[in-house]
Amino acid sequence: MLNLPFSKTLIAIPDVGEACAVVLADVSKDVIAPSDAQRILSRSETDRAAKCRTPARRHRYVQCHALLRRLLAERTGLDAADMVFSKGEFGKPLLAGEAAGSGITFNISHSGSFAVVAIGRDVDIGVDIEMIKPGRDFLGIVDHFFSSSESCAIRALPHAEQEAAFYTCWCRKESFIKATGCGLQMPLNGFAVSVEPQARAKLLWVDGQTHHCKDWQMHTLPTPPGYVGALTLSANRMRSQLHTMQNEVYGC
Ligand SMILES: CC(C)(COP(=O)(O)OP(=O)(O)OC[C@H]1O[C@@H](n2cnc3c(N)ncnc32)[C@H](O)[C@@H]1OP(=O)(O)O)[C@@H](O)C(=O)NCCC(=O)NCCS
Repeated sequence: MLNLPFSKTLIAIPDVGEACAVVLADVSKDVIAPSDAQRILSRSETDRAAKCRTPARRHRYVQCHALLRRLLAERTGLDAADMVFSKGEFGKPLLAGEAAGSGITFNISHSGSFAVVAIGRDVDIGVDIEMIKPGRDFLGIVDHFFSSSESCAIRALPHAEQEAAFYTCWCRKESFIKATGCGLQMPLNGFAVSVEPQARAKLLWVDGQTHHCKDWQMHTLPTPPGYVGALTLSANRMRSQLHTMQNEVYGC
């Protein structure tokens, strides 16, 4: 059973007559009853949970993955314990087994006490939530990892607004590399996103070009204070075009 606290947002998927469901949950609490979570997790998930360094981390891992299974079960009509997963070439988790042909796709992210699970159909999904950690040398990360246009945009903001813009940019970038499935195989300075928290979340260019950007939708997710969240979506028919480009440009 799903217990509070969690919230659900529905976001329209481009070109698909369905919405992507985005569930935000405080996984430091029992969103899923622990006995239920124990029943539905696979052996490999249980083994991974056992390797978590602290009981709090273990609890959050178990809750996040049990929540994913519950939500996928609702969407597929299968039992949560029967969900089978595989991985894409660069580690993106995918549905396998009986549900593989359903077209249902998902992505998860966890940070601090919260997890976000996004589930759609016939769409590439990438989601990211980040807990803001004040006092970090964020400009060092910006200079080292972000594109020059993002770096300029962040540095051009008043000092008091730069940290929030850094986290916003980070989160949008992560949601994009997770949507493509490339993860960190994709150079983080090889594309740019909008950085201001109040500005529309947007992919601005990829490999210096703008023509693929219209195929990807970015959204700012509602998050609790102290967190930022982003979602990137692309309809399936767009996917083959971008994957061709990624193959040519990045080999991923
Ligand atoms: C996939 C990646 C991008 C996710 O990193 P993260 O922000 O640390 O973690 P998140 O909580 O957002 O996401 C983790 C989940 O993404 C999923 N994931 C793993 N590889 C993925 C991939 N290639 N594509 C999409 N999703 C992936 C998994 O479900 C994973 O959860 P699990 O390990 O509990 O199963 C990872 O490659 C990574 O190591 N990132 C490092 C962070 C960083 O340096 N970011 C730079 C800021 S721009």
